[in-house]
Amino acid sequence: MENNINILPPIAMLAELTHRCPLACPYCSNPMELIQKNRELNTSTWLDVFRQAAAMGVLQVHLSGGEPASRQDLAELVAGARQAGLYVNLITSGIGLNRERLIALDVAGVDHIQLSLQGVNSQVSDWVSGYQGSFQHKLSIAGDIREIGIPLTVNAVMHRHNLDDLEETLQMAYRLGARRVEVACVQFQGWALRNRAILQPTRDQVDRAKRILAGAIERFRGEMVIDFVPPDYYADFPKACMGGWGSTGLNVTPDGTLLPCHGANIIPGMEFDNVRQTRLADSWYRGLAFNAFRGGDWLPELCKNCDRKNIDFGGCRCQAMAIAGDASAADPVCKKSPHRKKVDLLLEAEAKCEPAQTFRYRRIRTKNLCD
Ligand code: FES
Repeated sequence: MENNINILPPIAMLAELTHRCPLACPYCSNPMELIQKNRELNTSTWLDVFRQAAAMGVLQVHLSGGEPASRQDLAELVAGARQAGLYVNLITSGIGLNRERLIALDVAGVDHIQLSLQGVNSQVSDWVSGYQGSFQHKLSIAGDIREIGIPLTVNAVMHRHNLDDLEETLQMAYRLGARRVEVACVQFQGWALRNRAILQPTRDQVDRAKRILAGAIERFRGEMVIDFVPPDYYADFPKACMGGWGSTGLNVTPDGTLLPCHGANIIPGMEFDNVRQTRLADSWYRGLAFNAFRGGDWLPELCKNCDRKNIDFGGCRCQAMAIAGDASAADPVCKKSPHRKKVDLLLEAEAKCEPAQTFRYRRIRTKNLCD
């Protein structure tokens, strides 16, 4: 028993193995300041983190990045997480993987692979990812994943420049053998905020997408599950980010910083623990960061008196920080928020953005990404 107040253990852990990545996606949600290779946790520290996670009740680990295949010890990490008793999901662009490495991951026990897709043809995919040849490589990796027999989810990140290809995207995910496709509209965090104007879909696109999805969910029923992550700014109410702060999940960054969510380090004044000094369970139950917005006591009056407070838990703290400049404010996306006007003005301004405008790519320059 780790605590005497009613805090349940986390269900999932996002392990950001590295920030190195061969792609240059303009919607990268990683923080503005990336962690360099010389500050990454080594293999044995990650294996200890996995054991601690399993011991405290975590059920699944998502191995993510950057591109996790940039780490040569990836199969060893998968095996260690699996031996600890965790369900292992690998989130990858596929770049840096080949058939041989996939077989090694399969032998190591990877349970599931989530493969990202930037577009339905080379022209869009390679343009968005900033990586020539990425599309053909992804098709080939998806084929290998299918042949080896590892369950596959396709993660299609959607925005103004590919949302009109939604139907084709779903067809492609099905042809690739995905059991599930996550159609995720860009979440504006980290680097993605720099490209918000060019990536923000229009209201017409969003409405069309919803109509297509309604029909497709029925058509693919029983064969492929379709999850839709709608664009935040067009919603009337906020998402229940992380299922509520400090309630179901935690993140470990490449250098071992323990975060309550992917973007939490944009919140000024927060103190984060690090796995190099602090046990996972100590941080989860007693750490300042995990307790900062846990439960309902911190909620602004607006949310405390709202009948949705147990549905969206006040929304996303990082979005409140990014738009309202105050992490403890109600999520500005909420139609009841005094800051909603800012979201509407942003949408209005961004709708006028010329589609021909160029991306600000995220390039991470290292000599050898996979060393
Ligand atoms: Fe930090 Fe939503 S991303 S609370």
